[in-house]
Amino acid sequence: MQKKFCESETKSNLMRAFAGECQSRQRYYQAALIAQQQNYVGLERMFRFTADQEERHAKQFFELLKDCSGETIEIAGSFPASVYAELGDLLKASAEEEYHEFSVVYPDFAGAAREEGFTDIAAKFDMIAKIEDSHHKRFDYYSKLWEQGMLQRSESTEEVWLCLNCGHIHAGSEPPRDCPVCGAKQGYFVRRAEAPFTAENMYS
Ligand SMILES: [Fe+2]
Ligand SMILES: [Fe+2]
Repeated sequence: MQKKFCESETKSNLMRAFAGECQSRQRYYQAALIAQQQNYVGLERMFRFTADQEERHAKQFFELLKDCSGETIEIAGSFPASVYAELGDLLKASAEEEYHEFSVVYPDFAGAAREEGFTDIAAKFDMIAKIEDSHHKRFDYYSKLWEQGMLQRSESTEEVWLCLNCGHIHAGSEPPRDCPVCGAKQGYFVRRAEAPFTAENMYS
């Protein structure tokens, strides 16, 4: 039997999830600013792209609390204080936080929602957990590239790089120091496979 929503643990978990998503969004925005200051535009865009998805997750969870409008919901929760200035630390912490979210936190929340009879809410936790898994993979990928010093270097001399400013394509083991078309700094280049809407095989 379904529990009364306003007395449920699911209500508190939705508020915890909302708080967590708002914080993730803010952390990634701050990380984006650090990447921007250090001229890593590819990383800046990657953090912003992910931050915007967290904002949408927050919206989804918040709207599920509409039956409690007017109430103040008290929660206890644990949230990461990962205040770093180094991009490598930010990438690593983000990957770990996403891992915890998709492998522990949201499965727990989904389980509790299912037990209380809120199957739609459980499904929402499950679906968003899958997205957090993809975030984990994204941050982990960049964290490893960073650690290996391979963010803008490749073992292949035929790696294809794309300038996020003007779209110029360059093949080589690393992108040019300055884009020959628009003059953008090296930090604007990402592997073509990492750029939106430009994967090599998408038109065939
Ligand atoms: Fe999220
Ligand atoms: Fe995430």
